[in-house]
Amino acid sequence: MKANPSKQYDDMAELYALKNESSLHNALYERPATKAIMPDIKGKKVFDAGCGTGNLTEWLVAQGADVIACDISDEMVKYTKKRLGDRAQVRVADLGKPLDFIKDNSIDVIVSSLVLHYIRNWLNVFTEFSRILKKNGYVVFSTHHPHADWHWFNKPNYFKKELYSESWIINGKPYPVSFYHRTLASMFAIFRKTGFFVDILLEPLPIKEAKEKDPEIYERLLTNPHFIFFRMIKNPS
Ligand SMILES: C[S@@+](CC[C@H](N)C(=O)[O-])C[C@H]1O[C@@H](n2cnc3c(N)ncnc32)[C@H](O)[C@@H]1O
Repeated sequence: MKANPSKQYDDMAELYALKNESSLHNALYERPATKAIMPDIKGKKVFDAGCGTGNLTEWLVAQGADVIACDISDEMVKYTKKRLGDRAQVRVADLGKPLDFIKDNSIDVIVSSLVLHYIRNWLNVFTEFSRILKKNGYVVFSTHHPHADWHWFNKPNYFKKELYSESWIINGKPYPVSFYHRTLASMFAIFRKTGFFVDILLEPLPIKEAKEKDPEIYERLLTNPHFIFFRMIKNPS
């Protein structure tokens, strides 16, 4: 079995677009952490890899970045295009394939929020990220914390790379979602092989406002890892 993120996100795009704006996990936990480790992006060329419905894309533009964004889901891209108009270049593209629309050594910062766990082969992805980034360029990305997933799914073997599947209930309707679990060590092996140095590794806590929104989830996130964040530099000199 393989993950099929374009279908998954096409099917739930409308509901996801609404949920993503204000949900605790996105608005009060993931986005604040991603923004906290973002290098200076004013006037920089930024690639939003897996932009979804474009909330972060819009923020990048508002910070003065020159943004290219892509997503594998047609429906998600429609939302980002509608939101951004001509303020960013937005297109459908699969990060698991060559990024032919981006030139070598042309990007200052790549941002990828909660996307890479849908992709099986990270060697291809980080090889492409390395090709398109300028020397000393940054990758900032978040993904599922591997220990959290393994614990939550109650799997017998942490060390096995495998597809985990679940259902997200949105407005009472189930949406099947599958993604790849991999170990932290296997992530670092790819970073090393493709010439990336990890500058910041973040296991964040939710921001205070999350307590009002949902005290139970807030408490869980204060005591359990959930997402993990990396800031990496290409071939630092
Ligand atoms: C959880 S959403 C996050 C969206 C956005 N980055 C955010 O934080 O709001 C995951 C997104 O990754 C996209 N995605 C998954 N696999 C992808 C791939 N191989 N190439 C491009 N986008 C992908 C999905 O279509 C979906 O929009």
